[in-house]
Amino acid sequence: MIFLDVKKRIEQLKERINRYDYEYHVLDNPSISDVDYDQLLHTLIELERNHPEYATDDSPTRRVGGTVLDGFEKYEHTIPMLSLSNAFNEEDLRAFNQRIVKIVGHVDYAVEQKVDGLAATLHYEKGKLLTAATRGDGSVGEDITHNVVTIKSVPLRLREPFTGEVRGEIYMPKAAFAALNAARESRGEPRFKNPRNAAAGSIRQLDSKVAAKRTLDMLIYSITDVKSVEAQSQTEAMKALEKLGFKVSLPMHCTTIDDVINAVLSIESKRHDYPFDIDGAVVKVNDTTLYDKIGYTAKSPKWAIAYKFKAEEVITRVEDVIFQVGRTGQITPVAVLTPVDIQGSTVSRATLHNEDYIVSKDIRVGDDVIVKKAGDIIPEVVSVIKERRTDQQPLIMAKNCPACDSPLKREQGEADLYCSNDTCSAKQIETMIHFVSRKAMNIDGVGERVIEHFFNEGLLQSIPDLYRLKAHRDTLIKRAGFGEKSIDKMLKHIEKSKSNSLEQLLFGLGIRHVGEKASKTIAKAFKTIDNVKTATQEDLLDLPDVGDKIAKSVVEYFQNREKRTMIDDLLALGIEGKYTGLDETHDTNFEGKTFVLTGTLSTLSRSEASERIEARGGKVSSSVSSQTSVLIAGEKAGSKLQKANNLGITVWDEKTLRDKLNQ
Ligand code: IVH
Repeated sequence: MIFLDVKKRIEQLKERINRYDYEYHVLDNPSISDVDYDQLLHTLIELERNHPEYATDDSPTRRVGGTVLDGFEKYEHTIPMLSLSNAFNEEDLRAFNQRIVKIVGHVDYAVEQKVDGLAATLHYEKGKLLTAATRGDGSVGEDITHNVVTIKSVPLRLREPFTGEVRGEIYMPKAAFAALNAARESRGEPRFKNPRNAAAGSIRQLDSKVAAKRTLDMLIYSITDVKSVEAQSQTEAMKALEKLGFKVSLPMHCTTIDDVINAVLSIESKRHDYPFDIDGAVVKVNDTTLYDKIGYTAKSPKWAIAYKFKAEEVITRVEDVIFQVGRTGQITPVAVLTPVDIQGSTVSRATLHNEDYIVSKDIRVGDDVIVKKAGDIIPEVVSVIKERRTDQQPLIMAKNCPACDSPLKREQGEADLYCSNDTCSAKQIETMIHFVSRKAMNIDGVGERVIEHFFNEGLLQSIPDLYRLKAHRDTLIKRAGFGEKSIDKMLKHIEKSKSNSLEQLLFGLGIRHVGEKASKTIAKAFKTIDNVKTATQEDLLDLPDVGDKIAKSVVEYFQNREKRTMIDDLLALGIEGKYTGLDETHDTNFEGKTFVLTGTLSTLSRSEASERIEARGGKVSSSVSSQTSVLIAGEKAGSKLQKANNLGITVWDEKTLRDKLNQ
């Protein structure tokens, strides 16, 4: 009988402690002192140690940590974890609303703060936390259950036997971040750059004791199946999840787009008052029954958008200005800055674009400047703080190429300086880097580092040399400092690229003004590289979207003797340079069809498969509906396959997809 009592005591303690955790970490309203809490927890730990047969997965003792993994298990998301498209201003939000109104008419919105942490999904079975996983690439994440159970606001047992998946953001509160960094500094350990990095670093620990010591928190913002909590809207769903015991992001309910804009601006104005970092606001259509109708792109739902806050501006100093040479020989002045943190990353360089830009902003070495991240990515100098200027001198633009010392030229009517030396080493390196890049010839395994290395070793001077590398396999293995395996892989990819399409080749050549779109148009019209070589300006001007600049540049390129020799070399080395895109009228496999991918593909990544389908005129969507034309089912395909079968939708396996793509 004594054992029954122990079991009961353990049960009672578990329930009490879980309740105290909830009061403290979700409601922020504790009803017990820390000392008493610790004592209860200690008692439970002792009881479970003596009676391990009664220890269960929903016991709060798990929160202390102790599990040490050898590595992370993969976790395949049954429903992909998408990301959000961005809005940067009021117009973007209004345009978002317009797109929705066009499809479903007027809607209400739910507006929430966008926590800057990392997304995770929690899987509950009959009210108990079963697994927690990171987003990963959206299709496959990592199992982080052992660390997530240490987050005290994450319920291990819910108030009701709910089965399903909820998603949210794991983050480190600002105060915990400050304390952690102070402690690390006093131990002589490096500081974390920002709370997001600290949270990500903690959640990726194999030893859950480490995560348990780092104060992490989690805010839930969605549920994969709203019907499972009998909700029909985001606001209802969040209330239902709150009732189940989750710490949720309760949305503001807005009935007009003006309301939405006000809500978003109000969140922005309070941005620094939140106990955690936020980097924007999320606007979601409130009525969840409309989601399928509004639809999805391959990466994000069309019924939600992230409004990103204005870029943060910081002050730093221009220590130097250097000149970089691009593949076309274009010289870009770049400011070398005293490193400074902006929105979570260290910025030490900012583009100064060209001479006119420098003159108009009057930027000088030694100046204190205001810097921001334009569009959140590329840092930019906003203005100079002239009051702080002492004896800084106006900047003198480079007269000679920093790589080959040839005199620089500025063409009439253009703002940029160019190095006109065709054999300039920087130009050659950049040209090759562009040639192998993903959107051009997409040669895997040959990147910036490899090209620079081979160039310096004298193994690569120009694009055709790439295709001559195989003759030097042994030298490469000996001299290049790369393993035999990676050299062979690289050579294989180079060989494979010989049959790439004409548009890839044209784009890869890096002809000035000829981007991806123009390359496609030209390839489609001329079909072979020989035809493009002999095209006249008039022929080119006949094409849609080809203007004077492009036409002139293409003709000039192919009239240049060295370029012609290079193309001849490429053809002699086996480059096909043929248009492979089938005419729309004949490409019945993909054109105009909607595809959904599910399960694991073994020879292509999902993004690669999506790209190739899109390149052939197909559309890729993330959810199966009556609008779906074909479901591509990889291994371990689950509910989507079932749904497609129920709807009588054509299903292709991976091999069929490959065959059709190769047709
Ligand atoms: S909804 C299908 N709501 O932002 C869309 N996301 O840029 C799922 N995030 O990966 C996301 N706060 O990690 C949503 N209230 C919120 C959010 C939020 C932060 C993060 C989330 C997502 C990323 C998208």
